[in-house]
Order: sequence, then C-alpha cells, then structure tokens
Amino acid sequence: MQNSKFDLAGKTALITGAGGLLGMEHAAALLECGARVVLTDISMAVLEAARDKLKASPAQVELHCMDVSRPEQVSGVAQALQAAGIRVDILVNNAAIDPKVKGGEGMVESSRLENFPLDQWNQQVAVGLTGAFLCSQVFGTGMAQDGKGGVILNIASDLSVFSPDQRLYRKPGLPDDMQPVKPVTYSVIKTGLLGLTRYLATYWADRGVRTNALSPGGVFNGQDEDFVQRLSALIPLGRMAQRDEYRSAVQFLCSDASSYMNGQNIVIDGGRSAW
Ligand SMILES: NC(=O)c1ccc[n+]([C@@H]2O[C@H](COP(=O)([O-])OP(=O)(O)OC[C@H]3O[C@@H](n4cnc5c(N)ncnc54)[C@H](O)[C@@H]3O)[C@@H](O)[C@H]2O)c1
Repeated sequence: MQNSKFDLAGKTALITGAGGLLGMEHAAALLECGARVVLTDISMAVLEAARDKLKASPAQVELHCMDVSRPEQVSGVAQALQAAGIRVDILVNNAAIDPKVKGGEGMVESSRLENFPLDQWNQQVAVGLTGAFLCSQVFGTGMAQDGKGGVILNIASDLSVFSPDQRLYRKPGLPDDMQPVKPVTYSVIKTGLLGLTRYLATYWADRGVRTNALSPGGVFNGQDEDFVQRLSALIPLGRMAQRDEYRSAVQFLCSDASSYMNGQNIVIDGGRSAW
C-alpha cells in the first residue's frame, strides 16, 4: 500500500461495534492499509477475541470498552486517547443493534409495527443513530479543530435506500398478523444515517472532514436455508455477500483514494436495488 492513495500508515481509525461480524472486517481492511485501529465495543471479552482473530501487532491495535449511546463513555475514550497522544483520523460508525427476525415465542408479535415496544425503539435508535451522532460530535470535532481533517464513515444498509421486503421473513403456518417482520427501527435508523452523513459532509467540509456512508446488503452468516434462498432470488448476483466483500470499499472510503467524495452513500448489494 505504500505511496498509494490507499496508504493509511500513520493514521488511526476508531471503529464502533468492532467486535461484531462486520466491525472486524472493517478493522482488518484498515490494518491492511497500514492504519492503527482503535477497536471499541460494549464488552472487553468481545474486543479481546476480535484482536486475537485479527492477528495484528499489538502496537497497531487499541481496545476500549465504549457504549456509543453513553455520552460520558464516548468522551471518556476520547480523553484517554488524547492523553496517550493518539489522534483519531478516521471514525467508522458501525455499531448497531440488529434485531434478528425470528419467529420465536413472543418475538413474532412484538416485531410488528402495531405492537413494537417503545423501549426497543428507544434502545435501537440510541445505539444506531444517536450513537453515530455522539461519536461524530466527539471525534469529528477533534478532527475539525486542529486543521488536519479526517474521515467519518457511517455504516448504513441497503435498507437505507429501500424498504424491507417483509415476505422474506414469513414463517409458514402463522396468520398474517402474527408474521415476524424486520422492525421499523432498522429502516428509520439506516435512512437517518444518510441524513447525518449529508449534514456532517457539508458542516465540516471546510475543515477537511469528509463523511460518507456505506450501505451493505445482507452478509451470509449461516442463516436458515429457506431465508437465504428467498433473499438470493431478489439479488441479481444470486447470492448474499461474503463477510469480506466490503473491505475494499472501506479502504476506499477511509483513505485519500476517495479524496473528492463527500456526503455520498455507496450501495453494495449485489444489484438488489437495481432490480
Ligand atoms: N451483517 C449484515 O448483513 C449487515 C448488512 C447491512 C448492514 N449491516 C450493518 O453493519 C453494521 C455491523 O453489523 P454486524 O452484522 O457486524 O452486526 P453485529 O451484531 O455482528 O455487530 C454489532 C456490534 O455492535 C455492538 N454494539 C451493540 N450495542 C452497542 C453499543 N451500545 N455501543 C457499542 N457497540 C454496541 C455489538 O456488541 C456488536 O459487536 C451494523 O450497523 C449493521 O446494521 C450489517
């Protein structure tokens, strides 16, 4: 990567929800370009497991417990990094609560709009949307203030550009009003992230802070075969994504390779939104 626009040597990238499926992929992608990564998540055990899997040199990886919905934890991590002389150059807002659509007891009715519990709405919005705002406020302000700029990448979803096809989640034998659905929160949060992306992109453009969004399609992770077949039938490429298929987009969006890109959303969905 040396001397390439993708080179991130000397840069530090903070990733939220870094212990999850895609968070680790983002970390691997950025490490590959030479960045140091600050992995953050709600549990140290999860972070340590992620670090072990990444097999990076200890100097390249920092771990911090950080609940993105808790302002004091976000500023606490910012202060700890500052005290250690670490400047966050890249922020990847990746953390989210992804409500898995299951047809289990009690889950079915509660996912539906008519019954969706307010506490779940509040909790999911607090992590997926307010969390991205809080992290951008703290780490983005740091990038904007010292004149060196930086990059914010918001991880949205293909559901930021279209509505969930609820037929994907149907369970045989259940009446229509008991069928599980992808909850309303997911659409609202992911669409909201695009608004945040555009707002930040213009707000700090004169400070050299670029903000973009990446909207991945569904990643294959052992979901049940029926679901995978139904979803694959909606995707021109005929399959779900492999977990590492967003890495090069993350490298592009977080580096100077995308230096003239700001306020945009890259949708990588196997062509689903083109159909
Ligand atoms: N996996 C997919 O198919 C897919 C598709 C499109 C978009 N996405 C998006 O990609 C991102 C990562 O998804 P994933 O599949 O890796 O999910 P995941 O559930 O595997 O990981 C999410 C991580 O966020 C962490 N988290 C939860 N609450 C948190 C909080 N309050 N503060 C900090 N961290 C918290 C979890 O501990 C977890 O490690 C999400 O924004 C998701 O919506 C995923």
